[in-house]
Amino acid sequence: MTDLVVYYTRTNKTKMVAEKIAQMKNADMLEIIDKKDRSGALGYIGGAISAVRNSSTPIEYDVKDLSKYDIVYLGSPVWASKPAPAIREYIEQNDFSDVNVVTFVTMMASGEKPALEIMNDMIQKQGGNVIKSFAIITKNTDIDELTQKAIEEI
Ligand SMILES: Cc1cc2nc3c(=O)[nH]c(=O)nc-3n(C[C@H](O)[C@H](O)[C@H](O)COP(=O)(O)O)c2cc1C
Repeated sequence: MTDLVVYYTRTNKTKMVAEKIAQMKNADMLEIIDKKDRSGALGYIGGAISAVRNSSTPIEYDVKDLSKYDIVYLGSPVWASKPAPAIREYIEQNDFSDVNVVTFVTMMASGEKPALEIMNDMIQKQGGNVIKSFAIITKNTDIDELTQKAIEEI
């Protein structure tokens, strides 16, 4: 069995973490696309509002049977101390029954704790088993090195 890394990214930081995990674990990757335009300043503001309101958002992704994987890594940027709406949506749309999940978030400075708690609660409600969570600060740091450390500690 292999691992799967599922992620949403707006500006490629979470993607960098996801790619590092996939490289270390020889895992498959799955990107979640938010079909709402989240680019630029308006996209930032709209994204923050959607995150705060727990709004749903249309998403696109390759459907995978999560029960086929040893571990599913699930990653989101922190938006206003919450997970990105696309990740909430993905969790709600998928069956995590008996799936072992490692959650991770990336952020500029703070908000990782509430964001991870929300993701972990939602995954558990969908039947998943959260075995570990970690956060990577993506401002002025070596994302690859931090990710490597976090994965080695699992
Ligand atoms: C709408 C929005 C809200 C954000 N809110 C936070 C926050 O509450 N705390 C924080 O440290 N960073 C916040 N950020 C910064 C991102 O979490 C951070 O830059 C992240 O690593 C970006 O990941 P990405 O490049 O995969 O999209 C926010 C970014 C956006 C777009």
